[in-house]
Amino acid sequence: MELTEAIKNRRTCRAFTSEPVSQQLLEEVLELAARAPSNGNLQPWKVYAVIGERLSALKADAVKRIDTQGWETPEYLVYPSPLKEPYRTRRFAVGEALYKTIGVARDDKAGRHAQFAKNAALFGAPLGLFFYIDRSMNQGQWMDLGMFIQTLMLLLEERGVATCAQGYWTGLHLTLAKHIEPPEELMLACGMAVGYADTGSDINSLRSEREVLSEFVTFIE
Ligand SMILES: Cc1cc2nc3c(=O)[nH]c(=O)nc-3n(C[C@H](O)[C@H](O)[C@H](O)COP(=O)(O)O)c2cc1C
Repeated sequence: MELTEAIKNRRTCRAFTSEPVSQQLLEEVLELAARAPSNGNLQPWKVYAVIGERLSALKADAVKRIDTQGWETPEYLVYPSPLKEPYRTRRFAVGEALYKTIGVARDDKAGRHAQFAKNAALFGAPLGLFFYIDRSMNQGQWMDLGMFIQTLMLLLEERGVATCAQGYWTGLHLTLAKHIEPPEELMLACGMAVGYADTGSDINSLRSEREVLSEFVTFIE
């Protein structure tokens, strides 16, 4: 698959089959993703890959936590609050488009909550990746981690494996830590559900919008 094709095809998957992702494939893409550039070649990414019974136990705990107590206090806020325009509108638009694919109305709070809560079960994915970074790191290293994550998603896409990056886990970092016991110096950046897409699922039909070039590029000559 051409890189351009992988970039065009990749989309966030929110319904997976139970088909496992092979350990060999996973190791291959992780090794390749580590070719991503990083400031000063620090390679600040730390990844935990969770499968099998350990993942089932984590999902069960996470779902229970969300159902009974909701989110934990995150260690960092994914979005600024308040979120200014035009970002607020973009976020709203993709949310509306997502719920439309599954016929959940704007005022159906329970329906929306139920769909959002599926994040805790990684949308049924058989593999969970959790990306950590040393707390001492700066924005530069968070950029590096982002490059690593996107490289990884494209390599998986090339192999027919679907992904959903999940900031959602920032609100479950304590529950997650009980299961994987990361060292204190590490902080969770995000999770990722990984597996094979359930192609018959309506939610996977979403194709998110993008702004036109003139909205985000200024050419100066
Ligand atoms: C770091 C990061 C965290 C994300 N967190 C979530 C999440 O918790 N749950 C979710 O359903 N989608 C999540 N997304 C997916 C975004 O909503 C999605 O990338 C965006 O709407 C664009 O759609 P696309 O990925 O299909 O192109 C996340 C994406 C990124 C890059």
